[in-house]
Amino acid sequence: MNPVLQTTTQAVDTAFYVIFGICGVMLVGVAIAMIWLVWRYNRRRQPVPLSQKDHNLWLEVVWTTIPTVLVMLMFWYGWEGYLSLRRIPDDAMHIKASARMWSWLFTYDNGKTADKLYVPVGQPVKIELAAEDVLHSFYVPAFRVKRDTVPGMISWVWFIAEQPGSFDLFCAEYCGVGHSAMVTTVEALPASEFAAWLKASAATTGDLAARGAELAQQLGCLGCHSVDGSRRVGPSLKGVFGQPREVVRNDGDITLTADADYLMRAIRNPAAEIVDDYPPAMPSYSQLSDAEVQSLVAWLKSLK
Ligand code: CUA
Repeated sequence: MNPVLQTTTQAVDTAFYVIFGICGVMLVGVAIAMIWLVWRYNRRRQPVPLSQKDHNLWLEVVWTTIPTVLVMLMFWYGWEGYLSLRRIPDDAMHIKASARMWSWLFTYDNGKTADKLYVPVGQPVKIELAAEDVLHSFYVPAFRVKRDTVPGMISWVWFIAEQPGSFDLFCAEYCGVGHSAMVTTVEALPASEFAAWLKASAATTGDLAARGAELAQQLGCLGCHSVDGSRRVGPSLKGVFGQPREVVRNDGDITLTADADYLMRAIRNPAAEIVDDYPPAMPSYSQLSDAEVQSLVAWLKSLK
């Protein structure tokens, strides 16, 4: 369908305000009627009860018709809104989102990957959702989209960013100890800036640390490790190179220096030397080539 009839934000907001408005009118109406009845039929004003009637056709027609119309209205806006969320505009750009414990990876048609969801302003984007391990949920409140990612199943959402800006993107399904850290952002860039971003790739610049940074994004390292000194599931990577580290080994605790050797061991076999006071949550990355591990170490060195 083209052009976009209504955005996901408009679709959800319309249904929300219609339902909210009806609820507001009902609340006020019921409260006023109740207060009036209490006042009017107080024992002082009405010492003798009114005669009991068992039927009032007019009243029954009114209290059947009005709620039916209101409920159908809510259904109509809900249904229309739902269809708008499920109809992808023809010119939507495809981006793949991969959810894993505990980070997001976005892959573009040209092979570029990122741990933030960069989108061009003014163009609809279709996000294909996949889960690598367990259930997660893709949730961007600003665009009113939320959808589970299910292992073995592809689902999708679409939205359009009408203004440039940075918008929160959460995982909205409890997925383990790092769930609360599974947050990133949607970065809506003006079309020309987005095109420039999409073309640039660290892999072609030959900068070892930049390649390591890209690899760290792809592997999801930043889901558990911050680079700003804050504690997450794992220790922060800020300034880690050359720092003393207290680690727990099978043969006891020991303090060592985080040199290149240690960092390579910590990537390939993290369980052997767990940093003191952290859970043994990190999987082993023994499948990485020497060149890949070296680029990661170069990147770690650059995190001052
Ligand atoms: Cu992924 Cu919660």
